[in-house]
Amino acid sequence: MSGKQELIDKLTGIKSSRKSYYSELNAIVEEMKKKNKQLEVINRLTQIHVDKSWEEVSSYLAAQLSQILSFDRFVLTLLDHSDLLFYISEPEAAGWSCRFVKRRMVTKTAMSIEEFKKLLKKEIPDHHGTSVCLQYQAGNIYGFLTLLNREKVEYPREELELYRRMGEHVRISIENILLFKDVSEKVHIEAQLIQSAKMAALGEMAAGIAHELNSPLTAILGNVQLLMRDMKDGRPGKMLEDIYQCGLRSKKIIQNLLTFSRQEEYQLETMHLSGLIDDVLGLVGYQLAVSGISIQKEIDPTLPAVRGSRNQIEQVLINLFLNARDAVQGKSNPEVIIGTCLVDLEDRQFVSIYVRDNGVGIEEDNVSQIFNPFFTTKESMKGTGLGLSVSLGIAESHGGKLLVDSRVNEYTQFSLLLPIQENEGGESYE
Ligand SMILES: Nc1ncnc2c1ncn2[C@@H]1O[C@H](COP(=O)(O)OP(=O)(O)OP(=O)(O)O)[C@@H](O)[C@H]1O
Ligand SMILES: [Mg+2]
Repeated sequence: MSGKQELIDKLTGIKSSRKSYYSELNAIVEEMKKKNKQLEVINRLTQIHVDKSWEEVSSYLAAQLSQILSFDRFVLTLLDHSDLLFYISEPEAAGWSCRFVKRRMVTKTAMSIEEFKKLLKKEIPDHHGTSVCLQYQAGNIYGFLTLLNREKVEYPREELELYRRMGEHVRISIENILLFKDVSEKVHIEAQLIQSAKMAALGEMAAGIAHELNSPLTAILGNVQLLMRDMKDGRPGKMLEDIYQCGLRSKKIIQNLLTFSRQEEYQLETMHLSGLIDDVLGLVGYQLAVSGISIQKEIDPTLPAVRGSRNQIEQVLINLFLNARDAVQGKSNPEVIIGTCLVDLEDRQFVSIYVRDNGVGIEEDNVSQIFNPFFTTKESMKGTGLGLSVSLGIAESHGGKLLVDSRVNEYTQFSLLLPIQENEGGESYE
């Protein structure tokens, strides 16, 4: 009998009488379940995908941590030069949702955990925070993880230690994401440089041809005008009028080519979009029309003016038109619509210029890739895969966005959103 008890003790690690045996075993099983849960969560914390947005990272961390620690809200804070970026996650019926707040530190680019705690008290006064810092091996702090509670909570030492260890694991995932974003940005800049070189070469060529054509065309127009004066009536007069109108149209196309290829610094100007759209149509409309594509305009004439680089916005629209032309090829009733409207997004107002085609559409799996440099589904001689990545860069440098909506074999719509008012957003801290 005593041998059996000894064996049980060895197997379970429980030194007890038969009476309390089950309750102790239960306690140990519970403890093991808890430890297993912690290991599972730690494992999941290291599996955050590098291309996730910071909002997604914050709500994911909140969802994971809430399985082993209790808190009301969770904040992922990142230091970005002199900006503090707060990603605040709150529980909702469908899971954790995150909102973003940006604050500027006027005199600093670094921050200690004590300074951060003070700032957090000011920022979220009705909550108590428990923070750990995210810090590189070299020691520089680049962010904080914070559990927020409405009531003051004294976490037991064991839980605080667990939270600190979690911080270590999260740190590795976050550094991977930072590295990924850094590399993606470099690839993007490189692609922009290549595209600018390509556009510059194209521009130079176009300018050369336009100059060559300009002089004979001026002579043609001048002579036709002289002939028209002599033959006012009858058939020849009508034919000359046609020649004259076609000549004028050619002149407008040449003018557009010259404007487009002008090698100048990009200058910001205030402009009305309807004029700009007419110029772009003058440049590419003919190409589309000869391919049998019908072009429709849905321009809202009451839209306010926007500020930006005319050349760059023209470049985006040309890219979108050329993509639309390729997409509708082979369709029975090819159509491209260009339109403008006002859009409210994320508490801001934008003017939207959209280009919509009834072409092949974009496969769902490809939608997330089309803005990546060098992503193309076209033959190697036809597409470089740079058009959209460069266009996105231009949209963002204007404080705007480039959005896509598509359904395979039905339609594709790209919307270039340009801000109406520059919203600085956020207070500053000393
Ligand atoms: N309107 C559209 N309809 C369907 N697919 C589109 C459309 N616009 C873009 N795409 C898809 O997105 C990909 C990337 O477009 P992007 O303009 O960046 O490069 P590209 O047109 O292939 O090459 P280029 O550098 O010459 O513009 C295209 O290859 C195509 O698969
Ligand atoms: Mg393209």
